[in-house]
Amino acid sequence: MKTIRLIILSFIIYHLSFSPARAQVWLDETKPMEQRIEDALSRMTLDEKIRVIHAQSKFSAAGVPRLGFPDLWMDDGPHGVRPDVLWDEWEQAGQTNDSCVAFPALTCLAATWNPDMACLYGESLGEEALYRGKDVILGPGVNINRTPLNGRNFEYMGEDPYLASRMVVSYIQGLQSKGVAACVKHYALNDDEEYRHQVNVIVSDRALHEIYLPAFKAAVQEGGSWSIMGAYNLYKDQHNCHNAIMLNQILKRDWQFDGVVISDWGGTHNTDEAIRNGLDLEMGSWTNGLSEGASNAYDSYYLALPYKQAILEGRYTTKELDDKVRRLLRLYYRTTMNRHRPAGFLCSESHYAVALKIAQEGIVLLKNETPRGLPKGEGLLPLTAEKLERLSTAAPLHRRGGKRLLVVGENAIKMMTVGGGSSSLKVQKEILPLDGLRSRCSAMNAPLTVDYARGYVGDTVQSYNGVTVGRSLYDTHSAEALRAEAVEKARTADVVIVFGGLNKSDYQDCEGHDRKDYRLPYGQDELVEALADVNPNIVFVNISGNASELPWLDRVPAVVQGWFIGSEAGEALASVLCGDVSPSGKLPFTWYAKLDDCGAHATGSYPGTWRDGHQIIDEEYKEDIFVGYRWTDRQKAKKEKGKKGKAAAGPLFPFGHGLSYTTFKLGTLTADSKEMVADGKMTFTIDVTNTGTRSGAETVQLYISDKKCSVERPVKELKAFKKVFLKPGETQQVQMTIDRSALSFYDSQTGQWVAEPGQFEALAATSATQIASRLTFTLK
Ligand code: BGC
Repeated sequence: MKTIRLIILSFIIYHLSFSPARAQVWLDETKPMEQRIEDALSRMTLDEKIRVIHAQSKFSAAGVPRLGFPDLWMDDGPHGVRPDVLWDEWEQAGQTNDSCVAFPALTCLAATWNPDMACLYGESLGEEALYRGKDVILGPGVNINRTPLNGRNFEYMGEDPYLASRMVVSYIQGLQSKGVAACVKHYALNDDEEYRHQVNVIVSDRALHEIYLPAFKAAVQEGGSWSIMGAYNLYKDQHNCHNAIMLNQILKRDWQFDGVVISDWGGTHNTDEAIRNGLDLEMGSWTNGLSEGASNAYDSYYLALPYKQAILEGRYTTKELDDKVRRLLRLYYRTTMNRHRPAGFLCSESHYAVALKIAQEGIVLLKNETPRGLPKGEGLLPLTAEKLERLSTAAPLHRRGGKRLLVVGENAIKMMTVGGGSSSLKVQKEILPLDGLRSRCSAMNAPLTVDYARGYVGDTVQSYNGVTVGRSLYDTHSAEALRAEAVEKARTADVVIVFGGLNKSDYQDCEGHDRKDYRLPYGQDELVEALADVNPNIVFVNISGNASELPWLDRVPAVVQGWFIGSEAGEALASVLCGDVSPSGKLPFTWYAKLDDCGAHATGSYPGTWRDGHQIIDEEYKEDIFVGYRWTDRQKAKKEKGKKGKAAAGPLFPFGHGLSYTTFKLGTLTADSKEMVADGKMTFTIDVTNTGTRSGAETVQLYISDKKCSVERPVKELKAFKKVFLKPGETQQVQMTIDRSALSFYDSQTGQWVAEPGQFEALAATSATQIASRLTFTLK
């Protein structure tokens, strides 16, 4: 009976939509979007509705041709527009017009601490996406860096919810200003890769709301993200792609998200849950019981024929379906149906300029000590021609034929835009570090040669989904022979620059697995030690999205965090190493000395405990809200309480750390009041002066500390920051404003944010451990 009614209804709707008497509101641009949505919805048949809520190819979902809604095209994300793959397969389609610009990975973007860079990033990526005909970019990612083993940290924005929030909002606004939707991912708690389909995260409500959700919330409420991607893992025993609490309650009810929830590819597991629990668009790689790429696979998706069947059998009305379709229609109006979308450009000069600028601003100078022969206070970097003249090494100083720079390490010659999983790209160009350095040095017009030794062999594959790098890295030398060659060459070099770190192969900075070890791979530690035995002037450039143990740190005067920085990698690194640009990046995560200094590992809660049957692994976030510097601060405070007067060992490099080629001095922190009233604001002011001899940028970080509270709070938390660019001798007044939310904690009992009246402290700092000035104030 119900079936007959539905058929009659569909028939009437179908004919009504062609009735000349009925105004075509859904096409009328003068009408409000919501009205157009309702009109379109009322004209759609059941089949049309079902068709728009699941995949029709690897990266597209059908539109509604009869009503003029085009197909919706999605693509990864987040660092450039992924090359086209085949309709049903992961292999690349072999197009000749899909080589893009690779922008720096999101860890590097976060390290700029500059939301303007995030906006430029989004705008440029949006233009590339438009050229490529993509309506949704699968990114940015804001999962929290809870462990440095997470294979995907390079795609995310670090450990701090406030920093990630500020950056993600600007990225989304930039991207969506071009009429391309962001799909912020992976919502939520997908904080490591190992067993990502089976991990059931157990986390307190407080940690969920204070640490893991804020960046998503900001993405939705402030960034206005038009879509969001559900994560693979489970929370409270339910997959996040159809998790009632995550999607229906938090995202859609509490945050009033009006966009589309897209499943991670193959992250849907159950038709009923997908219908009821807030999933809007099912995308995927496979479906249970069907072979990958089988021609009928899309019809058999959980939100395809099984859903239609359930409606026809009367198990569901179209209530849930209509809500999903409304959201899809809203997305169309914002993207494919927006006739005012600007033009797209691929590989334009301005995009390369943006990629270069972000890379230069994100590179972090971790350490820069004075080598032998230079006056106290002068770091080994930058390597100017003039400084190279003055450097003395273990080797004879002024050999005939000029100075010699030795570059060591596979990462100097390895393309990093290929590999790592879904963020892998096919680029029009990628300047490798060795090439960038060579061309920069040749421009020095000095008697300087740049020599190279590989030092170690890591990963030589260099291909991903059919994108293959032209240059072979195949090498048959033994590890000993390669090391010996590098050491021999280092003996007579004036400076040795080692490009090491991780790469994008499996079990490193790569999707699908985590790193097995916190140490550097491929015998790099032994290599660096051996080089340090023969040459004191070593610069280590760490190419990665994660921190690693650096056991030789005391023996190496300069260390640079070089990230995965895309198309302009070599150019950006050379410009920082040679001093054209003063580094200004700051770490978006804590660099622990040892893995056990990280809360997730100290508490033994990573990777979790398998349940009987080995289907689900429970991962309890036992460190709770104490992630990153919140953990190291707490450990330090605990130790100091226990052993009077004895300072605890800090991290190797704290959150927010990053040096410059110039120096800065922060003045005294002042506030516009001594008290904050309940709904008021407070503005802090501090002077920053460039006390050095060259231009540079400093990021002032404002941390807030609750002096007394009914619950344990972190020692301090980042609540504002500002990056300032200063000429030598210049002073700028920096102002940062906070409100009550900066003082609040999440009360798990009531589900409310609470700021308890009393004393607070504001700390102006240049890293989580370099506090320049502090002041106390009261919340009334
Ligand atoms: C990843 C997503 C990605 C999707 C499509 C999944 O495996 O987790 O981040 O967007 O594939 O490539």
